[in-house]
Amino acid sequence: MSMSALKLPNTEREDDATGGVALDTRELRRALGQFATGVAVVTTHERGGDPVGLTLSSFNTVSLDPPLILFSVARKARSLEHLLQAQSFAINILHREQEAISNRFAQSVATKWDGVDQRPGRTGAPLLPGALAHFECRCYAQHDGGDHVIFVGEVLRFDCEPIDAPLIFCRGQYRSLDGSR
Ligand SMILES: Cc1cc2nc3c(=O)[nH]c(=O)nc-3n(C[C@H](O)[C@H](O)[C@H](O)COP(=O)(O)O)c2cc1C
Repeated sequence: MSMSALKLPNTEREDDATGGVALDTRELRRALGQFATGVAVVTTHERGGDPVGLTLSSFNTVSLDPPLILFSVARKARSLEHLLQAQSFAINILHREQEAISNRFAQSVATKWDGVDQRPGRTGAPLLPGALAHFECRCYAQHDGGDHVIFVGEVLRFDCEPIDAPLIFCRGQYRSLDGSR
């Protein structure tokens, strides 16, 4: 069947004021949610020393030489100001049994670190035990990303578990590779 014969949801509408096309944000979010990702928590420290952490699905690889990764953070996130001033941060790639950690660090509350196990990485950013991989990074670049800020990190150090059990996020839900969710 050709694409033109498919019945598509209303994904375009005229913007009366400008005559341009404004996208339907709900449909856009739904379409973007078709892209399955892993789940990560980025961590760093406030200037005062308190830990900072935020759940991410926007993590991705950029370059091997130099070793660069990226993620984006919403301008409304409370963690943003701390990440903007941080010299270094760590990315913790979550195991499929770490859904509770993901939910905890997806809350915008000051108590999110209460009772959470952590160990200091070499750059000082807290590392979450049980994660499938840790990437300790120095801040390489920050870019405007609309209502988000795009962070590029240079990987200084990493470790990786020899297992294959990532937490997956797709269409607004957690999944796992073995189909148990
Ligand atoms: C699976 C998942 C993925 C998320 N990915 C991102 C992301 O990539 N960027 C972002 O800014 N927020 C993302 N969020 C939302 C933040 O984790 C959430 O807004 C958090 O409360 C921000 O905390 P803060 O306000 O204390 O910084 C995600 C949430 C979930 C559950």
